[in-house]
Amino acid sequence: MAEFPLLFSPLKIKGMELKNRIFMPAMGLGHSKDGHVSAEDLVFYGKRAAGGAALIIPEVMSVSPEGGYGKGILRIWEDKYVPGIRKLADEIHRKGSKLAIQIAHMGGQLDPKIEVDGKIYIPVAPSSIPFITGSIPKEITHEDIERITEAFAQAARRVREAGADAVEVHGAHGYLLTQFLSTRTNQRTDEYGGSLENRMRFPLQVLKRVRKILGSDFPLIWRFNAADRQPEEEENLAEGRAFAKKLEENGVDCLNVSTGSYVDFQFLVPPMEVPLMHKVPLAREIKKLVKIPIATSGRIRTPEQAESILKEGSADLIGLGRPLISDPEWVNKVKRGESKYIRPCVSCLQRCLPLENKVNPEAKARWGAYCLTNPDVARDMDFKIEQAVDKKRVIVIGGGPSGCEAACTAALRGHQVWLFDKEKELGGALRYARMMPGRQDWGYLTQFYVNETERTKVKVSLGKPFEVPSLNEILPQVVILATGAKLFIPRVPGIDGPNVVPYDAVLKGEAKVGKRVVVMGAGETGLEMADYLAEQGKQVTVVEMRGVLAPRMVFYCRQFLFERLEKHQVETLTDTTIKEIRPGQVKILKYGKEDATLEMDNLVLCTGVVPNNQLVDRLRMLVNDLHIIGDAVYPRGVAEAINEGSMIGRII
Ligand SMILES: Cc1cc2nc3c(=O)[nH]c(=O)nc-3n(C[C@H](O)[C@H](O)[C@H](O)COP(=O)(O)OP(=O)(O)OC[C@H]3O[C@@H](n4cnc5c(N)ncnc54)[C@H](O)[C@@H]3O)c2cc1C
Ligand SMILES: Cc1cc2nc3c(=O)[nH]c(=O)nc-3n(C[C@H](O)[C@H](O)[C@H](O)COP(=O)(O)O)c2cc1C
Ligand code: SF4
Repeated sequence: MAEFPLLFSPLKIKGMELKNRIFMPAMGLGHSKDGHVSAEDLVFYGKRAAGGAALIIPEVMSVSPEGGYGKGILRIWEDKYVPGIRKLADEIHRKGSKLAIQIAHMGGQLDPKIEVDGKIYIPVAPSSIPFITGSIPKEITHEDIERITEAFAQAARRVREAGADAVEVHGAHGYLLTQFLSTRTNQRTDEYGGSLENRMRFPLQVLKRVRKILGSDFPLIWRFNAADRQPEEEENLAEGRAFAKKLEENGVDCLNVSTGSYVDFQFLVPPMEVPLMHKVPLAREIKKLVKIPIATSGRIRTPEQAESILKEGSADLIGLGRPLISDPEWVNKVKRGESKYIRPCVSCLQRCLPLENKVNPEAKARWGAYCLTNPDVARDMDFKIEQAVDKKRVIVIGGGPSGCEAACTAALRGHQVWLFDKEKELGGALRYARMMPGRQDWGYLTQFYVNETERTKVKVSLGKPFEVPSLNEILPQVVILATGAKLFIPRVPGIDGPNVVPYDAVLKGEAKVGKRVVVMGAGETGLEMADYLAEQGKQVTVVEMRGVLAPRMVFYCRQFLFERLEKHQVETLTDTTIKEIRPGQVKILKYGKEDATLEMDNLVLCTGVVPNNQLVDRLRMLVNDLHIIGDAVYPRGVAEAINEGSMIGRII
């Protein structure tokens, strides 16, 4: 691994020898049904271990029923959970990695009531102050403090008894231990509140008890927030520094530096709007103070980035959370010099947050995390790519995510594949998505398909629409139509005027717009388009006939977008219809009763999309085995497009 010498160098944490510097940080994925390690967990984590990561930390396990998620997430509050964890340890060891178990108590940050096996628990926290989740926890008593301290110790004992290699105490992300440290959540007047010394008392008490039960030889990692991303960040960091030193003095062997909580969730699980490697500056600050190894994570995407973090001495261990969800083989691919074929995480959060999935209609049926770019996730058990018995000639029309995925999967199975796209570049609608402010990571997925079609030897033809005579030249046995969606044009007087332009024409540079722009439609594309135009100094008004703006967007990506729209003074009019478009103005009707006029130079259409499948009828007459996938069936999103491409690639 001459290219990444530090990344592939070993590291010792106490007695635990790590073969390289890459670990998978804990992620609550919800693949358990009853709190025990499930068959899906064994396959999921086993694959990431086999993929080369030196250390796997599975999802958070609660030390006590009132301190966890009621459903779907692993538990460690009773001895009965140990055999499952032992199986996991065996599996991870068989695959050549080490296992650390993260133990936690969520305190007041979860739901107002926690239901576990039919029993209701009320959350506890240092003070009875409302949380952003709507929970008003019970103020923790001294008896609770003793009980929970012991629960942490017993959980640590179980980790050791299960044959895992290390314990990670979850002292970050706004959960109970952090709640004691923060003056926002800890307003106690007893010996656990007030001064920093008092606020550190409970976490340090937990640490001492855990250390005692583990003995001095067992590796102990502490995940902690060096600072919360609040206005008082500087003050936080000063306290973070002091706490880090205390943790080291009291027997922690490795500090996993983090930030964020449910109040600022975007720093806990950063979407693509957050800068790459955003926690590294915090890790560097802490590394200056202590001698024990420092771990960090958060939008570290490439081996080059990881190597540079190690080289500049900002951290010793690199956490790849979502990148290992989307590609379990990340490490092996880097080792083999194949990093350009890593299936990318685009930090979209559109499929890996179980809580988001609950509000996502397509994902609702499947509790638990999976991945937008990798349809294998959570289906690993029965979703294999196998060589086709009957090798066929396959044409794919459309080089968006559905077409590319179908083409590459089919080619991997030994089929001969031709892919046609009328544009000069692969990527389909992602080519527009990646141009929006803060949404650049979609470009990684486009690039992945450029590389992957090349690797799988798909014959790609770009720059002209598919023409039916090509069928006679190629003589395909299968045709896959993946032509995506096209703009829906509503019937409004003046819509065909020269001042009206489709959003994609603006993005392609085919249409120029003046200073004052009205965007018609405030779905995700409309709002992102408003953002794009406002960034270029345009005065933008968005008109939306419904009462809501981009309702399906991940909530905190929406937050980022709304902040930018506000900063650029973009006006948004909901419950408003456009009645007529004229030169220089738009006639609108607000709330079904108020007429008004907007002055403008151009109106940009973001009026939703409809399937673009006009080739279907002709192809049906000419092709025996015809399949339609992705938005060409009906417009949905990238996850469905990739999933359908992957499915069809596997069954033809
Ligand atoms: C600005 C924007 C933001 C978006 N954000 C998100 C998001 O956050 N999450 C999400 O899930 N989805 C998002 N989407 C939607 C997502 O991009 C689409 O759902 C997805 O790309 C559909 O994939 P597809 O392969 O079915 O079709 P497309 O990506 O539309 O690809 C179809 C391809 O077919 C080609 N084609 C069409 N006709 C022909 C022909 N006759 N001959 C040859 N080629 C042809 C087109 O050129 C195109 O490249 C966004 C879309 C836009 C525009
Ligand atoms: C679905 C999901 C669940 C998470 N759950 C946990 C958790 O249980 N414990 C924890 O410490 N961090 C959790 N995190 C945060 C991750 O450990 C990690 O810090 C974060 O995803 C940023 O790293 P990444 O950009 O490499 O994914 C979670 C992240 C995700 C995406
Ligand atoms: S769903 Fe999106 S953020 Fe989550 S792992 Fe997959 S690509 Fe990354």
